[in-house]
Amino acid sequence: MDWGMKNRLSRIFKQDGRTVMLAVDHGYFLGPVSKLEDPRKTIEPLMPYTDALMLTRGVLRNCVPADSGVPVVLRVSGGNSIVGKDLSNEGLTVSMEDAVRLNVSAVALSIYVGSDHEHQTLLNLTALVDEGECLGIPVLAVTAVGKELEKRDAKYLALSCRIAAELGAHFVKTYYCDDFEKVVKSCPVPLVIAGGPKLNTEMDAINLAYKAVRSGAKGVDMGRNIWQSKNPVGMIKAIRSIVHEGATPKKAQQFLK
Ligand code: R5P
Repeated sequence: MDWGMKNRLSRIFKQDGRTVMLAVDHGYFLGPVSKLEDPRKTIEPLMPYTDALMLTRGVLRNCVPADSGVPVVLRVSGGNSIVGKDLSNEGLTVSMEDAVRLNVSAVALSIYVGSDHEHQTLLNLTALVDEGECLGIPVLAVTAVGKELEKRDAKYLALSCRIAAELGAHFVKTYYCDDFEKVVKSCPVPLVIAGGPKLNTEMDAINLAYKAVRSGAKGVDMGRNIWQSKNPVGMIKAIRSIVHEGATPKKAQQFLK
């Protein structure tokens, strides 16, 4: 791996090889989702506890100070909406030239394995990897399921993650599931987990992160379970303690008090 690529990855994955990414890219197909209506307000208090921010170029340019110092993982796929016909119908939405201009540490896109647009989204990935390899910019593949949340089992996620890695993704974001070790073992690049829709309690999300890391995930790229919490700062601190300090869920819970 070239120096530039390694350098960018080391901004996201800290010295322990793990990361707490904050996902705030949801507006690209969900619009002003609850608690992210004003991205600047949501992001600002969480920045000191964030290893990398995952977001779109619109929110980056308008809501994040350029001198913040937090590494950026830029979402570069989209072209759909929650009220449209098919969430899997995504294309690439940002040129690599603009990603370089924004000095991003990685670019991210969704792949929709098993959907009507599987082929198109996998070719989006390969095109991005070709450009990323030229420029030293890592590519994060997100194994998206759209509205079909029931797809999130080990068999499907292992298939999606492995395909993403085989096609050149440098790291993969997926969901935690039962038998998650199988997903980790069959994927030769680092995995981080999304939180998914807000769970019933903060402890549910803390337990999810704990089980994922214990099973081999290299961290989280979490959104709603942090900023839709009643205590977003406490929640991200709790998740950090799980990811970077090996805290138990009980210990992590102390950050919520
Ligand atoms: C999809 O909306 C985005 O890729 C999110 O970044 C991803 O789903 C992670 O956020 P959450 O933890 O809210 O699922």
